[in-house]
Amino acid sequence: MPAELNALRHDLLAQVRKQGAATDPLVVDALRTVPRHLFLPDLPPEQAYEDEAIVTKRDEDGRPISSSSQPTIMAIMLDQLAARHGQRVLEIGAGTGFNAALLAHIVGEQGRVTSVDLDEDTVERARENLDAAGCPDVVLVTGDGALGHPDNAPYDRIIATVGVWDLAPAWRDQLAPRGRLVVPLDLHGVQRTIAFELDGDHWTSRSARPCGFMRMRGSAAGPERNYRISERVTLNLPHDRDVDPAALAEVLAEVPTIVGTGVSPSIAELFDGLSLWLALREPCWCTLSEAAGDGAPLLRAAPLRAPEAAVTAGILGDDGVALLSRADGELTVLGYGNDTVAGELLAHVHGWDAAGRPGSDGLRVDAYPVGVSGPRGDIVLEKAACRLVLSW
Ligand SMILES: C[S@@+](CC[C@H](N)C(=O)[O-])C[C@H]1O[C@@H](n2cnc3c(N)ncnc32)[C@H](O)[C@@H]1O
Repeated sequence: MPAELNALRHDLLAQVRKQGAATDPLVVDALRTVPRHLFLPDLPPEQAYEDEAIVTKRDEDGRPISSSSQPTIMAIMLDQLAARHGQRVLEIGAGTGFNAALLAHIVGEQGRVTSVDLDEDTVERARENLDAAGCPDVVLVTGDGALGHPDNAPYDRIIATVGVWDLAPAWRDQLAPRGRLVVPLDLHGVQRTIAFELDGDHWTSRSARPCGFMRMRGSAAGPERNYRISERVTLNLPHDRDVDPAALAEVLAEVPTIVGTGVSPSIAELFDGLSLWLALREPCWCTLSEAAGDGAPLLRAAPLRAPEAAVTAGILGDDGVALLSRADGELTVLGYGNDTVAGELLAHVHGWDAAGRPGSDGLRVDAYPVGVSGPRGDIVLEKAACRLVLSW
């Protein structure tokens, strides 16, 4: 392996560790050894070793449907998974095969990795990548990951590298006793990667971290909806609701009322804390993202900004919209149309701030499969196969 590639891999590992990820020595060793550039053969190696998600496939509308995930979030999830030598692991979402190769390195020759992807062409490419990287023993399967892969069960560890809306019953059936499941789980429109273990008849969480994965397709796809509001702006809703995109674009082109909140959170507090607060307490919350491009932006001063897109959150009412914005670090509320939703959004920001700006630290999620009775709890999310009870 040329020295430059080694250096790139070591630099990437250093960046990942700087974010507090790759705390497990087996994860460190895997990231130090497995060559990511062989899983992204169309990219120059320098780009393959950036700490970025790389989209590798899009649907007919241009939406990403496969990628190599950001190395830092991969390391966070592998830390959560705590896979060990000799274990059997099931991965849902083979993608490029890179994570499967990291897992194969961790479990070693005595272990076995099975990875499932919905798309046959993705599996074919992952096979080529894994062979090129010297991992011919990883078992790749084309299929719907919601069904797991019973042929190689039981698994000591199951990990989904695609956003899941529900906990599929097959994962419980195929997990070995004292096994662990790690999934990017939908919590009413936000995701947290959660490490679950079985506690008698239900799942209980061991850790929860913020994340943002593309959503699972197939039989367990969730009810989320997204609408193109303009060429660059997309509206994301956590539930199935009809929206007239042209009417919303017209409303957003109006001059809004602007109200200061007096609250100046960091980006991390916004991403991990306020979005979770809104998701769990506001039935009509939404997010809007605007891709980078030429021309004046439709979203004014969206508080979360990355080079490729700006993102904001708010409330979509029946005859008004309220969105978060930012001026000199302070969060502001932009009200379009009826003022009621702007007042509601302001009250949420103040409620979150007064509660000490909670985020996913200390978040506990218990998941009771359908048919198992459990406590009601303050915050309950009903899924098709389980009921989630959230507490701190
Ligand atoms: C973010 S990518 C996975 C990244 C991958 N682990 C890697 O290291 O490159 C998500 C993958 O999940 C797959 N996927 C989506 N829905 C699925 C389903 N129901 N069952 C299995 N795979 C699914 C997509 O085709 C996509 O390849």
